[in-house]
Amino acid sequence: MIRLNHISVEFPRGKQPSARAVDDVSLHIKRGEVYGIVGASGAGKSTLLRTINLLQRPSSGEVIVNGVNVSSLTGGALRHQRQKIGMIFQHFNLMHTRTVAANVAFSLRAAGKSSADIARRVPEILDLVGLADKAAAYPAQLSGGQKQRVGIARAIANQPEVLLCDEPTSALDLETSAAILALLKEINLRLGITIVLISHEMTVIKSICDRVAVMTGGNMVEEGLVFDIFAAPQHEFTRQLVSHTFNLELPPRLMQDLQGTLLKILFVGASAEQPVLSDVATRYGVSVNILHGKIEYIGQRALGILVALLTHPRDPGQVAAAVAYIQENTARVEVLHG
Ligand SMILES: Nc1ncnc2c1ncn2[C@@H]1O[C@H](COP(=O)(O)OP(=O)(O)OP(=O)(O)O)[C@@H](O)[C@H]1O
Ligand SMILES: [Mg+2]
Repeated sequence: MIRLNHISVEFPRGKQPSARAVDDVSLHIKRGEVYGIVGASGAGKSTLLRTINLLQRPSSGEVIVNGVNVSSLTGGALRHQRQKIGMIFQHFNLMHTRTVAANVAFSLRAAGKSSADIARRVPEILDLVGLADKAAAYPAQLSGGQKQRVGIARAIANQPEVLLCDEPTSALDLETSAAILALLKEINLRLGITIVLISHEMTVIKSICDRVAVMTGGNMVEEGLVFDIFAAPQHEFTRQLVSHTFNLELPPRLMQDLQGTLLKILFVGASAEQPVLSDVATRYGVSVNILHGKIEYIGQRALGILVALLTHPRDPGQVAAAVAYIQENTARVEVLHG
């Protein structure tokens, strides 16, 4: 549905050579999916996102939406195209001197809707985002989560095909953030709106995205199903992001006097339920001491990570055989020590 072909964006910097905020990024977002873009600050995420509705013109490359090359549109055709794409922001960007209802009405009016249409649609949309009782309130009277709900109401008022979300939950606490993400997912499923969501946190991506692109330094270094990226990150930057999310660091003191072989074991899907570790204990007589462990559910699939210490009272050969057995029967094993 959305194709970005070799998109680069350069910003002029006076006499110096211009800076490349986005460097030759190509990707394809399918209709109906929730597509994530993750990366550190300055990676070029917002710049890339803004090329989709041409708030940012690419220096080179094409933006194709529904088969139409929108990078060539201007004037009325461009405005018409933009109406099919809603956008929400980290700091909500509401009109502070207008009520909640008036904020939503504004985007309907901008799209040429009649007063009768507007009067009918505004309560409908506010109800959909859970703000039926806040129509007459001003933004200053709302919590952060409620403000973002107004942002969402305004963005979906004209029934767009695509909703662009630039760090929509970064200014919110964990619980409110989860509620907003759940609302976005509901909008995606109920209204069939394709969502492109930027975040610097993998936990946000994990909660609602189907696929994710990883950006660093203007480049897209990796892309795939969120589950696959978590299970087998390829790029060093992605590995760090993922391991940060799993938070499986061991205290340095514990690492110092380790005896035995320390493994990080990844279980994917069916193998997550297989009792591989109790198997090796009986087969090879090793003792298995689990130091850390977690099972994450990503899009209904289980992804288990364990950090375990294997020891044998006399025969290190048995530990090596046990490691080989675990390697055969699990998705991935990393020897952390020993
Ligand atoms: N209008 C602009 N003029 C000049 N440089 C810009 C402009 N917009 C962005 N940049 C630069 O482009 C690079 C990418 O910025 P961008 O805002 O896309 O990153 P980001 O990944 O969204 O970061 P953040 O997570 O902080 O929002 C940065 O180095 C930024 O300074
Ligand atoms: Mg940004």
